[in-house]
Amino acid sequence: MRARPGRHLRLESASVDRGDAAALYRGWLDARERGHGLPGPLYTAPEAFVLDLEAVFRRQWFYAATVCDVREPGDFYVVNVGTDSIVIVREEDGGVQAFHNVCRHRGSRICNEVRGGVANIVCPYHQWTYGLDGRLLHAPSMGASFDPSPYRLAPVQCRVIGGLIFLCLSDEPPASIERATQDLMPYLATYRLDKLKIAAEVEIVANANWKLIMENNRECYHCDANHPELLVALHAYGFGYGLPENEGAAAPQDAEFAALIEKRRAAWAAAGLPHDLIEFPDGLWYRTTRLPLVGDASSMTMDGRPACSKLLHAFASPDTSDLSLWTHPNSWHHFMSDHAMTFRVIPLSATQSRVTTKWLVHEDAVEGVDYDVANLTRVWDATNRQDKQLAEWAQAGVASSAFVPGPLSPETEDMVVNFIDWYVKVAREGLAVDGH
Ligand code: FES
Ligand SMILES: [Fe+2]
Repeated sequence: MRARPGRHLRLESASVDRGDAAALYRGWLDARERGHGLPGPLYTAPEAFVLDLEAVFRRQWFYAATVCDVREPGDFYVVNVGTDSIVIVREEDGGVQAFHNVCRHRGSRICNEVRGGVANIVCPYHQWTYGLDGRLLHAPSMGASFDPSPYRLAPVQCRVIGGLIFLCLSDEPPASIERATQDLMPYLATYRLDKLKIAAEVEIVANANWKLIMENNRECYHCDANHPELLVALHAYGFGYGLPENEGAAAPQDAEFAALIEKRRAAWAAAGLPHDLIEFPDGLWYRTTRLPLVGDASSMTMDGRPACSKLLHAFASPDTSDLSLWTHPNSWHHFMSDHAMTFRVIPLSATQSRVTTKWLVHEDAVEGVDYDVANLTRVWDATNRQDKQLAEWAQAGVASSAFVPGPLSPETEDMVVNFIDWYVKVAREGLAVDGH
């Protein structure tokens, strides 16, 4: 059974035959026309949700957390993706590891809080006790001859890049993480995430498919009409279109923006701030660039002034740039001289997603003295709420029987095309590996 573009096959049962589901999924992927949005069912169908998890989230590296989530030995932080639960742990030696949050006895979920601090990881069911390295240390009443050594917590591939923690649920994770580490480390090192703390965290559950949220993040076409707070400090043009490396059509204002970047390059070089654009090299999953903020703004606040008076370690005075980082399938980040922000999207169902935003400040900054949480969070709190609304309106629209994916702007939606290209490619590859 194949879906025609724009035609919805909305099946409510998630327990359809897997082969049928894979055939539907492949049909929807094949029906996508480049330069357009995805066929509606990829945003609405339960089969698409299940196969997105399998083919994309269980095969690719995805962004999970920051080292600020597990600052001290024994700190843990739980990330749930579909039916999988992963616990990220700070070990005694300072390393960061991740394990499946599944007891090796009878499978109970072990850590049932999002975060906490423990000496050992103890299953609440029958108290099997694991070390921070995942080894089973103690299992009561299992008999004198019981050998605990085969019953380690199952490891999850975990990589820290400049303080950002990426996970991969596959035993054969894409090798691209090596290049990503090499490429991104110099950019992120400036911000010393290991010396920051989480000043605020907000979770939003949006009634929208995760890809609509990501697509919305990949363009600022909608910014002028929707994000007055964000545009106080952020240029809407920093999304890759119209810049010299982009062969696509350029909007007139982009030449101006490119000139502004050129002007700032010398100052960034002098300050030792990496600034060359890294744009999805070889079709990989990350893009980073340093962008000038508007005028003399140095932070994404309502007045453009720093939200935290204790600046991050590399900065003696406020800097007027923002290092932006985008990663497929599920994150974006901003790093400034006074604070950093990370954004993570997790699919909850075909039509629901969780967006987690964290604001990071210097570890020694004191709330109420160096920063005010309401001031720190105001711009992106408003922006997130506006984006939630936009994604939910889009979700409602793509579920309509009348929806046909329309053309994307060659001037402003390059990164949406890039996201969809990447998604379609890895989804197809993921299906192929599964033998469907
Ligand atoms: S299920 Fe964990 S100790 Fe029994
Ligand atoms: Fe937005």
